[in-house]
Amino acid sequence: MGIIIKSAREIDIMRQAGRIVAIVLNELKSQVKPGVKTRVLDEIARRETEKLGAVPSFKGYHGYPASVCVSINDEIVHGIPGDRVMNEGDIVSIDFGVIYNDFQGDAAVTVGVGSITLEAEKLLETTEGSLIAGIRAARAGARLGDISSAIQDYAESRGYSVVREYTGHGIGRNMHEDPQIPNFGTPGQGPLLKKGMTLALEPMINIGDWRTRLEDDKWTVKTSDGSLSAHFEHTIAITDEGSEILTAL
Ligand code: MF3
Ligand code: CO
Repeated sequence: MGIIIKSAREIDIMRQAGRIVAIVLNELKSQVKPGVKTRVLDEIARRETEKLGAVPSFKGYHGYPASVCVSINDEIVHGIPGDRVMNEGDIVSIDFGVIYNDFQGDAAVTVGVGSITLEAEKLLETTEGSLIAGIRAARAGARLGDISSAIQDYAESRGYSVVREYTGHGIGRNMHEDPQIPNFGTPGQGPLLKKGMTLALEPMINIGDWRTRLEDDKWTVKTSDGSLSAHFEHTIAITDEGSEILTAL
């Protein structure tokens, strides 16, 4: 299929979709407190998205049952919100996407519940830092491997491991478009990046081993060794100057 180049008009719609994702995700972050059930985040996401005239993109995607993914501690991605309560000291990854005027936005953050350990704090900083390193490497004329290796080097040089079975992705009219964007790779390799490409970068970083296991619910992905994992994601557009984050406030 190849990587789809978006026009300036299409990028403008994706900017609006991304802004809605950022607004809702910001609201969800502020609701993360000890004693709150994860399903509350799902309810807020649905309500706020509707208010803003968009549609949550995850619900029904390959049968996924909710509007948001909530993944706690050793859960890496795709946790299903429900009756589980968030506790002081937990780290909570919230992943959320919308469709607005036929275009998609997708982003994720990991936040602490109340006060968290220094070890957990450093994991969050490193994972967000690796996303920013990837975004900095994203510009017209660079290659996809420059993004992947920037993310990998940032995390691994600090002693963390990079999840390998799940990747970032192109995004546009569909949540998942070409190319897949691994969070590890080789500089100078892979497809050439061009102005108008829109990409979702999403490092998933573990304190321990990079291996994963799928829970019995067939969605929740956990670290195989029970170590903590964090996830940050932005939707970006490649520009002449570098890249623009579409899911920032
Ligand atoms: N944000 C996730 C991704 O980038 C999508 C969650 S999968 C879903 O792949 F099934 F929940 F939609
Ligand atoms: Co994504």
